[in-house]
Amino acid sequence: MITLEGVRKTYTSGGESIHVLRGVSFCVEPGGVVALMGPSGVGKSTLLHLIAGLDRPDGGRIELGGMDVTALKGTARDHFRRRTVGVVYQFHFLLPEFTALENVMMPAVIAGEGRGARARALALLGEVGMAHRAGHTPAKLSGGEQQRAAIARALMNSPRVLLADEPTGNLDEESAAQAFALLLSLKAAHGLTVLMATHNVALAAACDRTVHLHEGRVEGQG
Ligand SMILES: Nc1ncnc2c1ncn2[C@@H]1O[C@H](COP(=O)(O)OP(=O)(O)O)[C@@H](O)[C@H]1O
Ligand SMILES: [Mg+2]
Repeated sequence: MITLEGVRKTYTSGGESIHVLRGVSFCVEPGGVVALMGPSGVGKSTLLHLIAGLDRPDGGRIELGGMDVTALKGTARDHFRRRTVGVVYQFHFLLPEFTALENVMMPAVIAGEGRGARARALALLGEVGMAHRAGHTPAKLSGGEQQRAAIARALMNSPRVLLADEPTGNLDEESAAQAFALLLSLKAAHGLTVLMATHNVALAAACDRTVHLHEGRVEGQG
Protein backbone atom coordinates (compact mmCIF):
# COMPACT_ATOMS: atom_id res chain seq x y z
CA MET A 1 0.00 0.00 0.00
CA ILE A 2 2.83 2.38 0.91
CA THR A 3 5.99 1.87 -1.12
CA LEU A 4 9.11 3.99 -0.71
CA GLU A 5 12.05 3.62 -3.08
CA GLY A 6 15.26 5.52 -2.55
CA VAL A 7 13.53 8.53 -1.00
CA ARG A 8 15.91 11.46 -0.51
CA LYS A 9 15.39 14.80 1.16
CA THR A 10 17.89 17.56 1.81
CA TYR A 11 17.14 20.76 3.69
CA THR A 12 19.23 23.82 3.14
CA SER A 13 19.34 26.43 5.85
CA GLY A 14 21.88 29.19 6.33
CA GLY A 15 23.81 27.98 3.30
CA GLU A 16 24.29 24.55 4.87
CA SER A 17 22.77 21.36 3.50
CA ILE A 18 21.34 18.75 5.83
CA HIS A 19 20.92 15.42 4.08
CA VAL A 20 18.05 14.12 6.20
CA LEU A 21 16.94 11.20 4.03
CA ARG A 22 19.63 9.56 1.91
CA GLY A 23 17.71 6.82 0.15
CA VAL A 24 14.93 5.35 2.24
CA SER A 25 13.22 2.23 0.93
CA PHE A 26 10.58 0.07 2.59
CA CYS A 27 6.94 -0.77 2.22
CA VAL A 28 3.86 -1.17 4.34
CA GLU A 29 1.56 -3.90 3.08
CA PRO A 30 -2.17 -3.21 2.71
CA GLY A 31 -3.86 -3.40 6.09
CA GLY A 32 -0.51 -3.45 7.87
CA VAL A 33 0.76 -1.35 10.73
CA VAL A 34 4.43 -0.44 10.80
CA ALA A 35 6.32 1.47 13.49
CA LEU A 36 8.83 4.05 12.29
CA MET A 37 11.58 4.48 14.85
CA GLY A 38 14.82 6.31 15.35
CA PRO A 39 16.20 9.12 17.52
CA SER A 40 14.84 12.66 17.40
CA GLY A 41 16.06 14.51 14.35
CA VAL A 42 16.58 11.34 12.29
CA GLY A 43 13.86 12.36 9.81
CA LYS A 44 10.69 10.53 10.86
CA SER A 45 8.44 13.60 10.58
CA THR A 46 10.13 14.58 7.32
CA LEU A 47 9.37 11.16 5.89
CA LEU A 48 5.73 11.22 7.00
CA HIS A 49 5.36 14.70 5.48
CA LEU A 50 6.64 13.40 2.16
CA ILE A 51 4.32 10.39 2.23
CA ALA A 52 1.40 12.68 3.06
CA GLY A 53 2.24 14.72 -0.04
CA LEU A 54 2.77 17.85 2.05
CA ASP A 55 6.28 18.19 0.66
CA ARG A 56 8.22 16.64 -2.23
CA PRO A 57 11.30 14.45 -1.97
CA ASP A 58 14.46 15.45 -3.85
CA GLY A 59 14.66 11.96 -5.27
CA GLY A 60 13.08 8.55 -5.17
CA ARG A 61 9.52 7.37 -5.44
CA ILE A 62 6.61 7.25 -3.04
CA GLU A 63 3.60 5.17 -4.04
CA LEU A 64 0.32 4.93 -2.20
CA GLY A 65 -1.95 2.22 -3.52
CA GLY A 66 0.02 2.13 -6.76
CA MET A 67 -0.25 5.89 -7.30
CA ASP A 68 3.03 7.80 -7.52
CA VAL A 69 2.46 10.65 -5.07
CA THR A 70 5.60 12.46 -6.16
CA ALA A 71 4.34 12.75 -9.74
CA LEU A 72 1.10 14.49 -8.76
CA LYS A 73 0.89 18.26 -8.94
CA GLY A 74 -1.43 21.06 -7.90
CA THR A 75 -5.07 20.28 -7.36
CA ALA A 76 -4.65 16.63 -8.36
CA ARG A 77 -2.16 16.25 -5.55
CA ASP A 78 -4.40 18.08 -3.06
CA HIS A 79 -7.36 15.96 -4.03
CA PHE A 80 -5.43 12.71 -3.83
CA ARG A 81 -3.96 13.68 -0.47
CA ARG A 82 -7.32 14.61 1.01
CA ARG A 83 -8.94 11.38 -0.18
CA THR A 84 -6.15 8.96 0.57
CA VAL A 85 -4.25 10.09 3.64
CA GLY A 86 -5.25 10.93 7.20
CA VAL A 87 -2.65 12.32 9.60
CA VAL A 88 -2.50 12.33 13.38
CA TYR A 89 0.18 14.38 15.14
CA GLN A 90 1.70 14.36 18.60
CA PHE A 91 -0.23 17.51 19.40
CA HIS A 92 -3.85 17.30 18.42
CA PHE A 93 -4.12 20.70 16.64
CA LEU A 94 -7.85 20.84 17.31
CA LEU A 95 -9.19 24.34 16.72
CA PRO A 96 -9.90 25.75 20.19
CA GLU A 97 -12.98 27.77 19.30
CA PHE A 98 -14.84 24.82 17.77
CA THR A 99 -16.50 21.84 19.42
CA ALA A 100 -15.18 18.30 19.06
CA LEU A 101 -17.93 17.63 16.53
CA GLU A 102 -17.11 20.71 14.46
CA ASN A 103 -13.42 19.85 14.54
CA VAL A 104 -14.10 16.33 13.28
CA MET A 105 -16.32 17.73 10.52
CA MET A 106 -13.69 20.24 9.43
CA PRO A 107 -11.87 18.17 6.76
CA ALA A 108 -15.17 17.51 4.96
CA VAL A 109 -16.21 21.16 5.21
CA ILE A 110 -12.82 22.24 3.83
CA ALA A 111 -13.18 19.73 1.00
CA GLY A 112 -16.54 21.32 0.17
CA GLU A 113 -18.40 18.18 1.16
CA GLY A 114 -20.41 19.42 4.11
CA ARG A 115 -23.47 17.37 3.22
CA GLY A 116 -23.78 14.39 5.53
CA ALA A 117 -20.65 15.52 7.37
CA ARG A 118 -22.41 16.04 10.68
CA ALA A 119 -23.84 12.52 10.82
CA ARG A 120 -20.56 11.01 9.72
CA ALA A 121 -18.58 13.04 12.29
CA LEU A 122 -20.98 11.94 15.02
CA ALA A 123 -20.57 8.32 13.98
CA LEU A 124 -16.78 8.68 14.08
CA LEU A 125 -16.92 10.32 17.50
CA GLY A 126 -18.98 7.34 18.61
CA GLU A 127 -16.34 4.97 17.26
CA VAL A 128 -13.62 6.68 19.29
CA GLY A 129 -15.82 6.69 22.39
CA MET A 130 -16.40 10.42 22.32
CA ALA A 131 -20.09 10.78 21.41
CA HIS A 132 -20.87 12.19 24.83
CA ARG A 133 -18.21 14.89 24.37
CA ALA A 134 -19.30 16.01 20.88
CA GLY A 135 -20.42 19.46 22.04
CA HIS A 136 -17.32 20.21 24.12
CA THR A 137 -14.51 22.49 23.03
CA PRO A 138 -10.97 21.03 23.20
CA ALA A 139 -10.14 22.90 26.42
CA LYS A 140 -12.83 20.88 28.19
CA LEU A 141 -11.37 17.56 27.06
CA SER A 142 -8.55 15.52 28.60
CA GLY A 143 -5.38 14.91 26.61
CA GLY A 144 -6.50 11.43 25.70
CA GLU A 145 -9.94 12.69 24.61
CA GLN A 146 -8.38 15.46 22.50
CA GLN A 147 -6.23 12.90 20.74
CA ARG A 148 -9.21 10.60 20.15
CA ALA A 149 -11.08 13.52 18.56
CA ALA A 150 -8.03 14.20 16.39
CA ILE A 151 -8.02 10.54 15.32
CA ALA A 152 -11.72 10.78 14.40
CA ARG A 153 -10.94 13.93 12.38
CA ALA A 154 -8.16 12.13 10.52
CA LEU A 155 -10.72 9.56 9.35
CA MET A 156 -13.33 12.08 8.24
CA ASN A 157 -12.48 11.90 4.54
CA SER A 158 -12.29 8.07 4.60
CA PRO A 159 -8.56 7.73 3.95
CA ARG A 160 -6.98 4.41 3.14
CA VAL A 161 -3.69 5.37 4.76
CA LEU A 162 -3.27 6.71 8.27
CA LEU A 163 0.02 8.38 9.13
CA ALA A 164 0.64 8.98 12.81
CA ASP A 165 3.55 11.13 14.01
CA GLU A 166 4.26 10.19 17.62
CA PRO A 167 0.51 10.08 18.27
CA THR A 168 0.95 8.98 21.87
CA GLY A 169 4.05 11.08 22.59
CA ASN A 170 2.12 13.61 24.64
CA LEU A 171 -0.02 11.13 26.58
CA ASP A 172 0.48 9.28 29.86
CA GLU A 173 1.11 5.57 29.66
CA GLU A 174 -2.49 4.51 30.09
CA SER A 175 -3.91 7.03 27.59
CA ALA A 176 -1.13 6.09 25.17
CA ALA A 177 -2.06 2.41 25.36
CA GLN A 178 -5.74 3.29 24.88
CA ALA A 179 -5.05 5.55 21.90
CA PHE A 180 -2.91 2.86 20.28
CA ALA A 181 -5.53 0.15 20.88
CA LEU A 182 -8.04 2.51 19.30
CA LEU A 183 -5.80 2.98 16.24
CA LEU A 184 -5.55 -0.78 15.83
CA SER A 185 -9.30 -1.30 16.08
CA LEU A 186 -9.98 1.54 13.62
CA LYS A 187 -7.38 0.08 11.30
CA ALA A 188 -9.30 -3.18 11.23
CA ALA A 189 -12.75 -1.56 11.01
CA HIS A 190 -11.79 0.86 8.21
CA GLY A 191 -9.27 -1.30 6.36
CA LEU A 192 -6.52 1.23 6.97
CA THR A 193 -2.83 0.90 6.33
CA VAL A 194 -0.94 2.56 9.19
CA LEU A 195 2.56 4.00 9.50
CA MET A 196 3.31 5.33 12.97
CA ALA A 197 6.42 7.18 14.11
CA THR A 198 6.97 6.38 17.75
CA HIS A 199 9.56 6.21 20.52
CA ASN A 200 7.36 3.81 22.47
CA VAL A 201 9.08 0.43 22.32
CA ALA A 202 6.10 -1.45 23.76
CA LEU A 203 3.70 -0.05 21.16
CA ALA A 204 6.22 -0.62 18.36
CA ALA A 205 6.49 -4.26 19.43
CA ALA A 206 2.73 -4.60 18.98
CA CYS A 207 2.97 -3.43 15.34
CA ASP A 208 3.47 -5.89 12.48
CA ARG A 209 6.96 -4.58 11.87
CA THR A 210 9.41 -1.91 12.90
CA VAL A 211 11.51 0.21 10.54
CA HIS A 212 14.51 1.93 12.15
CA LEU A 213 15.96 5.03 10.54
CA HIS A 214 19.63 5.76 11.04
CA GLU A 215 21.67 8.47 9.32
CA GLY A 216 19.16 8.89 6.56
CA ARG A 217 18.59 5.25 5.73
CA VAL A 218 16.69 2.25 6.98
CA GLU A 219 19.03 0.59 9.43
CA GLY A 220 16.99 -2.41 10.33
CA GLN A 221 13.56 -3.91 9.99
CA GLY A 222 12.18 -6.34 12.46
N1 LIG B 1 11.84 22.74 7.17
C1 LIG B 1 13.06 22.39 7.58
N2 LIG B 1 14.14 23.12 7.25
C2 LIG B 1 15.38 22.78 7.65
N3 LIG B 1 15.66 21.68 8.38
C3 LIG B 1 14.63 20.92 8.76
C4 LIG B 1 13.28 21.23 8.39
N4 LIG B 1 12.47 20.27 8.89
C5 LIG B 1 13.27 19.41 9.56
N5 LIG B 1 14.57 19.80 9.47
C6 LIG B 1 15.73 19.08 10.03
O1 LIG B 1 15.67 17.77 9.51
C7 LIG B 1 16.08 16.82 10.49
C8 LIG B 1 14.99 15.79 10.69
O2 LIG B 1 13.87 16.37 11.35
P1 LIG B 1 12.55 15.57 11.64
O3 LIG B 1 12.07 14.97 10.40
O4 LIG B 1 11.64 16.49 12.36
O5 LIG B 1 13.08 14.42 12.61
P2 LIG B 1 12.27 13.49 13.64
O6 LIG B 1 10.82 13.61 13.35
O7 LIG B 1 12.83 12.12 13.43
O8 LIG B 1 12.63 14.00 15.01
C9 LIG B 1 16.42 17.63 11.74
O9 LIG B 1 17.81 17.86 11.75
C10 LIG B 1 15.66 18.90 11.52
O10 LIG B 1 16.29 19.96 12.19
MG1 LIG C 1 9.25 14.19 14.50
